[in-house]
Amino acid sequence: MLDQYGRSISYLRLSVTELCNLRCRYCMPEDGVCKKNHDEMLTQEEMLTVVRACAALGVTKLRITGGEPLVKPGIVELCRKAAATDGICEVCVTTNGILLPKLARPLREAGVSRLNISLDTLVPEKYRHITRYGELDQALAGIKAALDEGFAKVKLNAVLIGGFNDDEIPALAELSRIYPVDVRFIELMPMYDSGDFGPEAFIPYTRVTEALPDLEPLPADGSVAKLYRLPGAQGSIGLISPVSAHFCAACNRIRVTADGKLKPCLHSADEISVKGLSYDAMVETVRTAILSKPKWHGELSYLERSRAARNMNQIGG
Ligand code: GTP
Ligand code: 5AD
Ligand code: SF4
Repeated sequence: MLDQYGRSISYLRLSVTELCNLRCRYCMPEDGVCKKNHDEMLTQEEMLTVVRACAALGVTKLRITGGEPLVKPGIVELCRKAAATDGICEVCVTTNGILLPKLARPLREAGVSRLNISLDTLVPEKYRHITRYGELDQALAGIKAALDEGFAKVKLNAVLIGGFNDDEIPALAELSRIYPVDVRFIELMPMYDSGDFGPEAFIPYTRVTEALPDLEPLPADGSVAKLYRLPGAQGSIGLISPVSAHFCAACNRIRVTADGKLKPCLHSADEISVKGLSYDAMVETVRTAILSKPKWHGELSYLERSRAARNMNQIGG
């Protein structure tokens, strides 16, 4: 369905949990999240009602997010049922990869078509630092498991952080030459409480084009990334620039959080509760939400933080 600015909304990002087995500094506080009451969170049945209602209104692509979606009990079953929903053509998962050695195969068998995996650094100590206690080897084993299971178009997401991983742009980009993966650099988004990054941490995507003078532009593929390729590489390089060059005019997505709030825009404070709704009420609520989607998310910068009153793990990116 079209929103009031003529954007066709075809992509639902459904966060299935706020919990995570890591604690990335830009995403969530060190002490994690206060566990909410079970009855505040969407049940699996309610999540599937959201998916069915969105599909009835023209959503064809579903991305399962978190927190870390793979820590959610019943995640494979949820993916299987979502993939079998009329109208849903593609179920994708965004994950930190840690649990993929165990779950890549069941997810593939359940009908998940694509995986995006977070990887901000190739240095074990830096990985431990940014995730607060993760082991790089486990994330790399997850990426290997995804490729071994035959997932195509695996994307690796690196959040660009000045003074932390800008010196690793060539090494991370090189992965697209060695493996059949797309490597994406994402500008750090200033969330409600996403760490104590100073102004120098917020670097623009142009830092990547400067560091990789050989990049060849590729045609856009309808995603939020500007696409390039290193000469001879198997995969692409994607640059995602929510801060320095927002892409709201082409936004095709809505979000539903694990606690049942429909967010028409990632960086807006507007939230519409979908907890406990019947299918018919869900369809009407999603329709109203799509029509209320704002034109853009407003200025974002080190000084102008996201208006979303949540951290990223409570939204799903
Ligand atoms: P594809 O389906 O492979 O194109 O993935 P995706 O980019 O939609 O999803 P992913 O979960 O991998 O997100 C990558 C990064 O883009 C994350 O940091 C998200 O927060 C960010 N992102 C995704 N959608 C939006 C959006 O609508 N607005 C903004 N500002 N950032 C977004
Ligand atoms: N800015 C940019 N990207 C972020 N992510 C999480 N928090 C932020 C942030 N503050 C990314 C993760 C993951 C995706 C879902 O969102 O790295 O790849
Ligand atoms: Fe967990 Fe992903 Fe947030 Fe890192 S970015 S803490 S892996 S949800």
